[in-house]
Amino acid sequence: MKKHNIQLLPLGKIIQVNDQTPLIDVLHEFGIEFPCGGKGTCGKCKVKLLNGEIDVSDIHQQKIDKLGLSSDWRLACYSNCTSDITLEIEQFNHLILADESDFDFNALAGFGIAIDLGTTTLVAQLVDLSTSKVLAVETQLNPQVKFGADLISRIQAALDGHATEMTRIIRASIGAMIELLLQKQPVAIDRISIVGNTVMQLIFSNCDITPLAEYPFNTDNLGKKTFQPKELGWNLQITDNVQFFPSIGSFVGSDILAGIAATGLHVKEEYTALIDLGTNGEIVVGNKHQIVCASTAAGPAFEGTNISMGMRAVTGAVSSISLIDNQLMSNIIGNVTPKGICGSALVDAVAIFRAQDLIGMFGEINSGEATISVTGNVHLTQKDINEFQLAKAAIAAGLEILCKTISIQLSDIQNIYIAGGFGNYINIQHLVQTGMIELPENKIHKMGNTALIGAKMFLFSNEEIVSTILTKTKHINLESDPNFQDIYVDKMLFL
Ligand code: FES
Repeated sequence: MKKHNIQLLPLGKIIQVNDQTPLIDVLHEFGIEFPCGGKGTCGKCKVKLLNGEIDVSDIHQQKIDKLGLSSDWRLACYSNCTSDITLEIEQFNHLILADESDFDFNALAGFGIAIDLGTTTLVAQLVDLSTSKVLAVETQLNPQVKFGADLISRIQAALDGHATEMTRIIRASIGAMIELLLQKQPVAIDRISIVGNTVMQLIFSNCDITPLAEYPFNTDNLGKKTFQPKELGWNLQITDNVQFFPSIGSFVGSDILAGIAATGLHVKEEYTALIDLGTNGEIVVGNKHQIVCASTAAGPAFEGTNISMGMRAVTGAVSSISLIDNQLMSNIIGNVTPKGICGSALVDAVAIFRAQDLIGMFGEINSGEATISVTGNVHLTQKDINEFQLAKAAIAAGLEILCKTISIQLSDIQNIYIAGGFGNYINIQHLVQTGMIELPENKIHKMGNTALIGAKMFLFSNEEIVSTILTKTKHINLESDPNFQDIYVDKMLFL
């Protein structure tokens, strides 16, 4: 029988199904809910068709029209798979992390918009500059995900002739998000600040990304990019301009610059670190005198992509695991039959299994079995544990090398801030037990979307913060350290 691949975004999973398989049959396995029971009335199962074809029957079209959906949306409960397709799953999008935290600011008149342009997700917040309060929020998936989930595939797609299209769709998406913000709160905008990684900045700005694809993978084009809305195709009047903040290095962007601003590590005497636990785990270590940063190949393990039963934190996901009276207790989102495991529970599982000696020092499953059961049918394979080891070693080795670069010990760091959506749900005690961060728990703090916090701070005063941080910050290539391989292999162990 003919088979087709379905790619699910932003989860990044690819599943293979038989021709004519109803989407409802396969998607519920991934925690997608069908609240009206597949009658086509609630619209909650809507998926955006990013690639491929889904035939729409007359009745399906009537349901789509009734729900007021545009032409690229389909109702999963009315769709069958008849070709290779890429779907954006609307129900996953609520997992995008916005921010409501307080920060220091000097009140200004007017309104601004802060945007976190992530590889996977986009967040835009409308801010009252007299109070710093968020008046409206818009989140969505980065439409470039159809060109690949990670930075390497985005760079490749741009080099393969899609650069102009990638620039067009990201500008159009952000423009649409701004329109939605202003529909919610019709105010006059003074300025717009955007932060994102270097690849996102160059593509948004219509700049050549070839240098990032060729040895030595360096670009000089790191500076701030300034635009008038008209240049971006946005029908909007603003008194100031749109600023895309400068990158620190070829693979450490203005999202990390903003993160440094959010933690205030550039003004503190004590050594502080920031770790963004995304697919491209960035690490910053420093104080008001010197700052070093690097990106690591932490890999997508934390987002569930390379884990056999990995899934996002949606219905059916094991979201946390604890050991109570020597019994494994699992939290399953929605209290349903468990279907998979999300990143935070992966950390829990590895930490607990190691503590119980079910996993050995090299990550081996001590029983000699192929898997270890988590709960119900959910299990970890040997490969899953090895994927986790690669990710945790990348972070631990990165921290050690950065400390060495500025001649400090890891123990000199007084506080480590964990950024990013996944970081928000992680159990710090278990994180420490896995050896990913070899510091006491009380030094480790979750900080949420630091890129967005920084982008908001930049709406108030940016020149001074940005130049202060950039002057002090050095971008380090971890692999150029002669001991990198040894340290990395060492950090894979569970001691
Ligand atoms: S489940 Fe309600 S519209 Fe599909």
